Amino acid sequence: MKLADHTILVNGGAAGIGRGVVMALAKEGARVAFFDSSEEKGRITEKEVSERAECMFVKVNLLDKDEVAQGFKQVIGRFKTLHGLVNCAQASRNVPFLDTTEEELRLALHTGFLPAFHLMKWSYPYLKETQGSIVNFASGAALEGMPTQTSYAAAKEALRGISRVAAKEWGPDQINVNIVCPIAASEGVLEWKEKMPEAYEKMVNNIPLRRLGDCEHDVGRVVCFLLSRDAKFITGQTIMVDGGTIMLR
Ligand SMILES: NC(=O)c1ccc[n+]([C@@H]2O[C@H](COP(=O)([O-])OP(=O)(O)OC[C@H]3O[C@@H](n4cnc5c(N)ncnc54)[C@H](O)[C@@H]3O)[C@@H](O)[C@H]2O)c1
Repeated sequence: MKLADHTILVNGGAAGIGRGVVMALAKEGARVAFFDSSEEKGRITEKEVSERAECMFVKVNLLDKDEVAQGFKQVIGRFKTLHGLVNCAQASRNVPFLDTTEEELRLALHTGFLPAFHLMKWSYPYLKETQGSIVNFASGAALEGMPTQTSYAAAKEALRGISRVAAKEWGPDQINVNIVCPIAASEGVLEWKEKMPEAYEKMVNNIPLRRLGDCEHDVGRVVCFLLSRDAKFITGQTIMVDGGTIMLR
């Protein structure tokens, strides 16, 4: 197992891709802690994962910095160490640029970018000790400037930017920092499919592999690889896990 004896913290692990990441990590032998604001979904995921690995769910509303700090302390208090951090959670609203408000910017930045920034800082001494790794989630929609994604693009590209800075500053400490841009059938995407079936069809037809990814098998397993010793020479990279939709040059 690639991640035996690894302790990994996943920020946003109760549902969707984060849940797929938590499941994949547990199958690779990791001890997993995860944050989420959904108590109900968090407990269900924790129970399922606990059948095969040590797992700790902490209810955290990422909009509240004190809760994030408290949650981080609880995880370190229990496991004492950290080998990997995955920043997956994100909330945002789809609004045209001219209608986007500061409140919407705050929602996207304060659920996606800021908690990831703080968790990266707080994790640093532990990851330095273990020569660990960070995986941050960004998005092809932000890379491409998809209409109505102003706040989301701001949060995602800010996170991609600081990931590259951290990769360079912390490279000498052997801490890897990479970015994953997925397309996967999470609950969020399936809700969007219900509301906008034509846009969904169009998106699938634009994917060279003509399907959405599976949260655990297609995305979670790539995250396992990026957190493992096998990926120790990869850092600062944006990895498209999107069926070939965007081919970076
Ligand atoms: N699904 C895709 O195809 C896709 C495409 C591009 C990028 N992404 C990115 O991948 C990541 C996961 O996407 P997803 O589709 O699984 O998302 P999702 O909306 O299905 O799940 C997001 C998780 O974050 C949690 N969350 C939201 N607000 C929170 C808060 N205030 N405090 C704590 N937890 C909170 C939710 O409860 C949920 O468990 C996100 O960063 C997303 O932007 C996903």
